[in-house]
Amino acid sequence: MKVGAWALRPIRPCPEGDAVEVIDQRALPHRLQFERLASAPAVRDAVRDMWVRGAPLIGACAAYGIALQARSDPGNAALEAAAHLLRSARPTAVNLGWAVDRMVAALLPLAPAARAEAAWRLAGDLAEEDVRVNAEIGRHGLELLKAIAARRPGPVQVLTHCNAGWLATVDWGTATAPIYLAHEQGLPIHVWVDETRPRNQGAGLTAWELGAAGVPHTVVADNAGGHLMQHGRVDLVIVGCDRVSLRGDVCNKIGTYLKALAARDNGVPFYAAMPLSTLDRRLRDGLADIPIEERAAREVTHVAGRTAAGEIVEVQIVPDGSAAANPAFDVTPARLVSGLITERGIVAADEAAIAALLG
Ligand code: MRU
Repeated sequence: MKVGAWALRPIRPCPEGDAVEVIDQRALPHRLQFERLASAPAVRDAVRDMWVRGAPLIGACAAYGIALQARSDPGNAALEAAAHLLRSARPTAVNLGWAVDRMVAALLPLAPAARAEAAWRLAGDLAEEDVRVNAEIGRHGLELLKAIAARRPGPVQVLTHCNAGWLATVDWGTATAPIYLAHEQGLPIHVWVDETRPRNQGAGLTAWELGAAGVPHTVVADNAGGHLMQHGRVDLVIVGCDRVSLRGDVCNKIGTYLKALAARDNGVPFYAAMPLSTLDRRLRDGLADIPIEERAAREVTHVAGRTAAGEIVEVQIVPDGSAAANPAFDVTPARLVSGLITERGIVAADEAAIAALLG
């Protein structure tokens, strides 16, 4: 997507094939800075520590992690070890394992001498596929926005949670793809952006993206969504997802479930934008079986921000000694999901409908 005069992606392969550069998302919205990752362990660290985050992006990044490994040691044992390392970086988003498995399955049948070049090309293909998939999600999701716009005057009011924007993918984003397309086509739209505590991906990343694209938006505290829905100020909720079960349970950033409950109580449609790479074809019961990442308590007890003098500081917001817990994702049961926006069209969050879509 464009930021000012620049066409940016959150990951860019170096032309020499010896590293990738990624936007360090910890620095946004205050600084736009790239970091160079030149090995599988460096990619693992960047995913684990959330320099890069968002399900599709960590999949693409891990694919390049395998490619970097194939460059330094393409042997079976080294590739398997790198795959294990990368898969262990974060547990919840299924795209990570999906991308690593796909790379390893394509490389192992090749002669070791052919693997480095093939791996770099495959990682690039996987990244470009993500761009095409998200553009298709945008095309299908746009129809929902157009239908609302046709019913009444004024901007279509969308609420989103976390960051499922272009920063979380290779381009376009998933939940944001229909929003960017609508904006490009002149459909009036306004986005309520949940701040998304504890890491504030909404306030720091989604708001930055939307602002750079000129999309009207308003950041709200996570607790405001229910109130806005009760007062008819939200037409539609669109969120991303990290893993969806075969029966349509949607795992996404913590707090998503509460938005789905409020949406159901107020008759507001609740959609998840789901590339098929985020569907876990081995898992049926999302509530019982999706592993939920527990992150450091410090993300809850502390908040970082910019002072008036421009300095980035971190401050403590709880009393000394208070315990804090930090489950990073929750699961919205399929019954609360109005539909899944996929690259093949919009499908009901229902086992039979998903099976039919897969064909
Ligand atoms: O912990 P994060 O920031 O990686 O969580 C990201 C989300 O929950 C996104 O909504 C999800 O990955 C979809 S990104 C298109």
